[in-house]
Amino acid sequence: MRLKGKVIVVTGTGSGIGKDIAERFAKEGARVVAASRRAATGQGVVDAIVAGGGQAIFVQTDVSSAKDVDALFDSAVRSYGRVDGLVNNAGVNFVCPFEECTPEAWDRVLNVDLRGTYLCCRRAILEMLKTGDGGSIINVASNHTVAAVKGSVPYDAAKWGMVGLSKSLGIEFASRNIRVNVLSPGLIHTQIWDDILDAAPSHEECLAHWKSNIPMHRVGTCEEISSAAVFMISDESPFMTGANLVIDGGMSSQLVTPDPYTSRKI
Ligand SMILES: NC(=O)c1ccc[n+]([C@@H]2O[C@H](COP(=O)([O-])OP(=O)(O)OC[C@H]3O[C@@H](n4cnc5c(N)ncnc54)[C@H](O)[C@@H]3O)[C@@H](O)[C@H]2O)c1
Repeated sequence: MRLKGKVIVVTGTGSGIGKDIAERFAKEGARVVAASRRAATGQGVVDAIVAGGGQAIFVQTDVSSAKDVDALFDSAVRSYGRVDGLVNNAGVNFVCPFEECTPEAWDRVLNVDLRGTYLCCRRAILEMLKTGDGGSIINVASNHTVAAVKGSVPYDAAKWGMVGLSKSLGIEFASRNIRVNVLSPGLIHTQIWDDILDAAPSHEECLAHWKSNIPMHRVGTCEEISSAAVFMISDESPFMTGANLVIDGGMSSQLVTPDPYTSRKI
């Protein structure tokens, strides 16, 4: 077991990547503090972990609320006595032309994705400093931190902001052995991907478009992200801090999609 006894707070555990990370960490022996906005889904994920012999508690949390985040970390310490790790995974996306991007839409995305990350990092680091044993933090951003996507201004700004925040914290707390890294997925098969497919006029054309934009010709799986998260949160990556690990099937490495035009050999 690679995370035996570690107390790790994971946000956004009701579905998708966060759910998979919580389940995987519990299998690796972690004591998981699962935080999500909706009680119905969040509690169900924790009940299944406990039924399978894992250790976890659920705390209903809106990560954009300082009060909720304080209550989350208070619960973690009350239940398990300490905090060794944090995964800031809760996030919301928003796509629309910039002319229609209202201040309310901007605030909603920035408040969850960036402010929520700041609030949770703050409390986690304060708890880690109390034990003096160090700790590990993963901020789940996106391959939007390598380049931008049209119509995603608040999301891109928030996710790039998460990288700056992580690098800054990484260097400030390196000497106290608190590591802060970014995990940046590309397109992963969660509700987001199902929504993209459902919104497309043609499934086939949508699939073909994304295949040509992802050199590995497929979307990723939640398991492929949680495998990396286990490595980053564990003691197997002691020299890693301030890094941004991109897992996107090569998508952000490709300058120009080869379709529909392929140049002759030069
Ligand atoms: N799926 C992808 O293709 C993809 C790609 C790149 C980055 N990401 C990032 O990965 C993370 C997880 O995404 P996902 O695809 O699993 O999405 P998802 O919608 O399935 O999961 C997000 C979770 O966060 C929770 N959440 C949302 N707002 C919250 C809040 N204010 N407080 C607490 N919890 C809140 C939701 O309830 C949900 O459980 C996000 O940060 C997302 O930006 C996803």
